[in-house]
Amino acid sequence: MLNGKRILLGVTGSIAAYKAVELTRELVKRGAEVQVVMTQAAIRFVTPLTFETLSRQPVLLDMFTLAYGSQIGHIEATARADLFVVAPATAHTIARLAHGLADDFLSNIYLASRCPVLVAPAMDSDMYQHAVVQENLARLRERGVHIVGPASGELASGLIGPGRLVEPEEILEAIERLLEPSGDLAGEVVLVTAGPTREPLDPVRYLSNRSSGKMGYAIAEAAGQRGGRVILISGPTALFAPREAEVIRVETAQEMHDAVLAKLDAATVVIKAAAVADYRPKRAATRKLKKDETVPEVTLESTPDILAEVGRRKGRRILVGFAAETEDLVVNARKKLQRKNLDLMVANDISQPGAGFDADTNVVKILDAQGGVEELPLQAKRSVADRILDRVVELLKRRD
Ligand code: PMT
Repeated sequence: MLNGKRILLGVTGSIAAYKAVELTRELVKRGAEVQVVMTQAAIRFVTPLTFETLSRQPVLLDMFTLAYGSQIGHIEATARADLFVVAPATAHTIARLAHGLADDFLSNIYLASRCPVLVAPAMDSDMYQHAVVQENLARLRERGVHIVGPASGELASGLIGPGRLVEPEEILEAIERLLEPSGDLAGEVVLVTAGPTREPLDPVRYLSNRSSGKMGYAIAEAAGQRGGRVILISGPTALFAPREAEVIRVETAQEMHDAVLAKLDAATVVIKAAAVADYRPKRAATRKLKKDETVPEVTLESTPDILAEVGRRKGRRILVGFAAETEDLVVNARKKLQRKNLDLMVANDISQPGAGFDADTNVVKILDAQGGVEELPLQAKRSVADRILDRVVELLKRRD
């Protein structure tokens, strides 16, 4: 189950750092992609080369060396990590994380990453029992950091008591528990389209629409957080993609069509929030149209109707479309629902304030294939996304 999971492993200066070597080996064996980050104290116990050999990745060490530029890419990689594990975590590192210090790679990554964090403390018994350490651990727990261990037993100092790093096997179990898919969309593959398309007139001009992508991105984010594997096929937007999603960026309706069909086999749910251009210039000029030439006449042709195509190949998938209408909302949306063979149609009344294109909120009606209409009041697009997904989950349950 760790196959393809991206794990950031922070190693700090403890005698138990050798156990992180074993942990790295096991993670890689189980299919995880491991990126190790070490503190300066850690490299006194185990060499970076050991981790580099096992993880097949350069170890992140020093923010101020010449290699820093090339390591920026690794920082970006951390933004896509599934889990950040600090094992072993010394009292010093725990304090730095608890207080938000950012004076090395590891602490910077902790502050920058948005994935779950698992900390495995390792220190002397008296240190572990000190009120400050306990307060720091409590502070981390309050912020949602997961703590595994420490175990009780013989310590490097010769003392016996709590403070030992738990065995790699126990850390692995904690990792697997945290990465286990949970949520009502676990096991589903949700393909979401979002944003506008751009249909070129010439190399610098295009036909497009006002879609910001906010609605589709909210659905992608919610579906990921509810345990679904998300494939987000996005037209041009200024938004950051949800970290959980596999993102495919496209420009034209044709590219969106090709990307959707290429991914359709994998999808169990398809939600088409994109505002796909219905028409495109029949011929795009290969050079920039000049102002001093005669005003060009543009002949338009239809773009492929992606959703209709998906409707024809629907199989057991749950299919959700969107309709942005200015009049006869329900009548027009129902026609599209039937014509495109959908399970649900989300109808935006874009004549209403706070609804539709580029707003943070939306006002929609959810139509189903049985003739039902659910009216949702004005609310954040993220709440609309969750309600749509509630309806999808109901349909998935009924289908099984
Ligand atoms: O992106 P935002 O700024 O957050 O705005 C959200 C939104 C208003 C763009 C979105 O919620 C929305 O309503 N999207 C659909 C816009 C629309 O007008 O769709 P339509 O009525 O042209 O098409 C109906 C459905 O068919 C849509 O699901 C669309 O993705 C799909 N379609 C349309 C044309 C085409 N060639 N291929 C398609 O798949």
